[in-house]
Amino acid sequence: MLLHPFSWLILSAMTALCLLQGVPVRSGDTGFSKAMDNVTVRQGESAILRCAVDNRVTRVAWLNRSTILYTSNDKWSIDPRVVLIANTKSSYSIEIQNVDIYDEGPYTCSIQTDNHPKTSRVHLIVQVPPRIVEISSNIAVNEGNNVSLSCIATGRPEPVVTWRYLSPKAHGFMSEDEYLEITGITREQSGLYECSAANDVSSPDVRRVKVTVNYPPYILDARNIGVPLGHQGILQCDALAVPAADFSWYKEEKRLSESRKGMKVENRETYSRVTFFNVSEQDYGNYTCVAMNRLGHSNASVILFEILQPTSSPLLQEETTAALTPFKGPGAVHDGNSGSPPCLLCAPLLLLLFLLPLSLLLSSAQF
Ligand SMILES: *[C@@H]1O[C@H](CO)[C@@H](O)[C@H](O)[C@H]1NC(C)=O
Ligand SMILES: *[C@@H]1O[C@H](CO)[C@@H](O)[C@H](O)[C@H]1NC(C)=O
Ligand SMILES: *[C@@H]1O[C@H](CO)[C@@H](O)[C@H](O)[C@H]1NC(C)=O
Ligand SMILES: *[C@@H]1O[C@H](CO)[C@@H](O)[C@H](O)[C@H]1NC(C)=O
Ligand SMILES: *[C@@H]1O[C@H](CO)[C@@H](O)[C@H](O)[C@H]1NC(C)=O
Ligand SMILES: *[C@@H]1O[C@H](CO)[C@@H](O)[C@H](O)[C@H]1NC(C)=O
Repeated sequence: MLLHPFSWLILSAMTALCLLQGVPVRSGDTGFSKAMDNVTVRQGESAILRCAVDNRVTRVAWLNRSTILYTSNDKWSIDPRVVLIANTKSSYSIEIQNVDIYDEGPYTCSIQTDNHPKTSRVHLIVQVPPRIVEISSNIAVNEGNNVSLSCIATGRPEPVVTWRYLSPKAHGFMSEDEYLEITGITREQSGLYECSAANDVSSPDVRRVKVTVNYPPYILDARNIGVPLGHQGILQCDALAVPAADFSWYKEEKRLSESRKGMKVENRETYSRVTFFNVSEQDYGNYTCVAMNRLGHSNASVILFEILQPTSSPLLQEETTAALTPFKGPGAVHDGNSGSPPCLLCAPLLLLLFLLPLSLLLSSAQF
């Protein structure tokens, strides 16, 4: 070995190239070519490329496509990530550290046995977990508008991107690609939309987008209320709206002053409630509740009317039950726990409940 002849290597490189181009290699030893499986690693991990050799082998090399990485113990590659990990009688192996997607491709192990070059090719396959790199931001739209959501993901193999509507009523996927188009969105379609990017490298990357659908107020319930003179009376107006409605009350065309004595107005997201602490003759009448947001307004009228006390009409009770929270005093609504007749049973029941375990305890203590 006076000179280092690279002729065999050039031949090896050429056979490697032939392999790449699909030209069959006349190596004579087909068993050797089939000995290696492809190597699959995740981006960032290390890949070990092994080549089995025997004592007849005189020269060895590893190539990346047609570029020589190593020949025997000599490093040709300038890439610090490429290291020789074994050059023994049975194995010639290199390691590629911190593998990147550019490293993917065919690698060739070239060996020379009895002056015959042979090659073995291994495919390095680099996997990348799915990752959503770009997704629509949370949005607020008016009802009836068209909504378009997008979700861009990377990964190897190419991830499958799907959109799903997160609602107990919704089933399955809404879209099996990066884009989700909703034409003429309705208020029922507001909520969370989930994009999932999946490949079989790791668990899917999942992100959510909140879609808020704005719509003008819609008054659900406003009922006429009968209240005896001198009692508490409550008017309530329930409205759904996005954004939440602003409420105002009118009594026969005149705006109700919210600071009036003996009265209280409570405005919440979904309702407005007017409480008259002590209903007087002037309080009776026709009230209009107006619910408004920037998309529109809606109104409903409720009559506060006089009833004689005490009331015995079950119909009236039912109506007030549905529309109001219970209020105190005669003629008011009982919610089932506050009435006196059901509690006549309470004392004997409680006594029984107390005595029963006591007697059991006493009887068991005797044994
Ligand atoms: C190795 O990978 C190549 C390219 O992806 C493929 O054509 C070949 O069938 C694979 N071989 C094995 C043994 O998996
Ligand atoms: C292999 O070759 C490809 C293409 O030239 C290159 O991008 C990559 O960095 C090389 N990888 C190694 C480990 O040599
Ligand atoms: C929504 O999309 C439909 C169908 O693509 C189109 O006819 C309609 O004009 C769009 N509406 C708006 C508000 O852009
Ligand atoms: C309600 O108002 C009437 C008349 O003003 C008054 O006589 C009565 O005491 C008031 N009742 C209560 C509970 O404040
Ligand atoms: C109450 O007032 C509203 C609006 O002013 C009106 O449309 C409605 O007919 C009135 N209701 C009654 C029972 O008078
Ligand atoms: C209630 O709604 C009707 C119909 O939209 C409208 O004509 C009326 O002015 C409204 N009343 C109030 C007090 O806003």
